Amino acid sequence: MKYIIEHLDEDLSQWSMWEYEQISKTVGKENLIFSNLHSIKNKQNLEKLKDLGETKEEPINELKQIDPKRACLLDPSAERTLCPEDADKFDFLIFGGILGDNPPQKRTEKLLSPRLPGIQKRNLGDMQMSTDNAVKTAKMIVEDGIPFDKIEFIDNYELKITEKESVVLPYRYLFEDNKPFMHKKLLKYLREHPFG
Ligand SMILES: C[S@@+](CC[C@H](N)C(=O)[O-])C[C@H]1O[C@@H](n2cnc3c(N)ncnc32)[C@H](O)[C@@H]1O
Repeated sequence: MKYIIEHLDEDLSQWSMWEYEQISKTVGKENLIFSNLHSIKNKQNLEKLKDLGETKEEPINELKQIDPKRACLLDPSAERTLCPEDADKFDFLIFGGILGDNPPQKRTEKLLSPRLPGIQKRNLGDMQMSTDNAVKTAKMIVEDGIPFDKIEFIDNYELKITEKESVVLPYRYLFEDNKPFMHKKLLKYLREHPFG
């Protein structure tokens, strides 16, 4: 399976880089493509991205190597949930490289779907996940054969900042070893800058 991240945010922030590092570790550099990178101004991060996967300036709809009949867009607005049997139907899973927003703005549907008319779509439940959590969840379903409803998640994770203060992250996270799936540096950053 190849995993494609269509980068849709204006620039390439450190936060996105942490998520992209997690994705590369999860699926392997050789199975990962980052597309739509033409507008990135942060050249340093763009260079670093080349160590994480294949990089493409062009948007997804211009990539010749992708057969749209064998591709699936992961979109929270899709009607069907990704299932282990989908492993036989698809060779490419496509995700939006978008940071979460609260409340969700349906940006996958608004920005990515129109570039892929007729594409098959699947959801990963009805709650918004970060792109790295969405990729890992999809991989568990199609490569490890674990149905979505057997996967353990934590919703609205409450991150403790001090004895008296905490911040709620309004997303769904994979829950492993008693903690949410998140880059260590992102967790540290959130503890140090809980209100942005
Ligand atoms: C942070 S999400 C983008 C959320 C954005 N608020 C939206 O509504 O589309 C980043 C990407 O992860 C994937 N994703 C996250 N949660 C998902 C879900 N519940 N079902 C399917 N895909 C999901 C999608 O590919 C999405 O473009």
